[in-house]
Amino acid sequence: MKITIIHGQSHKGSTYHIARMLAEKLEGDITEFFLPRDFGAFCIGCTRCFEKSESMCPHYETLKPITEAIDSADVIILASPVYVYHVTGAMKSFLDHYGYRWMVHRPEERMFRKQAVCISTAAGGGMRSTNKDMADSTFFWGVAKTYRYGVGVAAVSWAKVKPRIKRRIDARTTALAQEIRRNHGRVKPSFKTKCYFYIMRLAQKSGWNPVDAAYWREKGWLGRKRPWRR
Ligand SMILES: Cc1cc2nc3c(=O)[nH]c(=O)nc-3n(C[C@H](O)[C@H](O)[C@H](O)COP(=O)(O)O)c2cc1C
Repeated sequence: MKITIIHGQSHKGSTYHIARMLAEKLEGDITEFFLPRDFGAFCIGCTRCFEKSESMCPHYETLKPITEAIDSADVIILASPVYVYHVTGAMKSFLDHYGYRWMVHRPEERMFRKQAVCISTAAGGGMRSTNKDMADSTFFWGVAKTYRYGVGVAAVSWAKVKPRIKRRIDARTTALAQEIRRNHGRVKPSFKTKCYFYIMRLAQKSGWNPVDAAYWREKGWLGRKRPWRR
């Protein structure tokens, strides 16, 4: 099993340790990236990715190794500490660069057979909205199944997290890893994902964005082919 972790921060605190703990329990090959260390560019809003091609994004080449690791992964882990109730700025600007991959535009077909986990930690609250920030992307990328794990660690460093909370994290990551391993190679997109795909398919048939419509046609999705079928 191939696992790609995107850390929404460059330091190794609670969020890092929890993401790592889960990934190690999956017993696969782990590739990880730290933001903004490995990618820190802001989307400049040129919209060339939407209107022409993602390869015309000024950050395309810098982002490419991360894109390739995401595309070849079986499990994508997006992890971010809660910063003012949301993901870190680095995670947000990273996700902005994949707007063109949302189902409304040109989703990558391998996403429909992947699992993803969104992990966030906070001193007190904001895990729900932070996980939603990341899960919105995995859903609209077409990822078949996304798990969310938010932890109130009641601390601002991993060293200060109480043993009782660490035991709970250990138990939860073990259960989550078991579920992910069980579903490996078997996941199918949810009813909601399929519904959304079919609505987008209708929009693509009208050809409102010629670049997107050409992509859908070339994939055969306007005909009988579906990204979740091999
Ligand atoms: C800029 C900033 C904003 C934060 N905002 C929140 C917040 O909205 N809610 C909260 O409970 N904790 C907040 N925290 C605390 C962190 O989310 C929390 O300590 C988290 O576990 C840190 O993860 P890390 O150890 O991986 O850095 C904030 C911390 C920073 C640095």
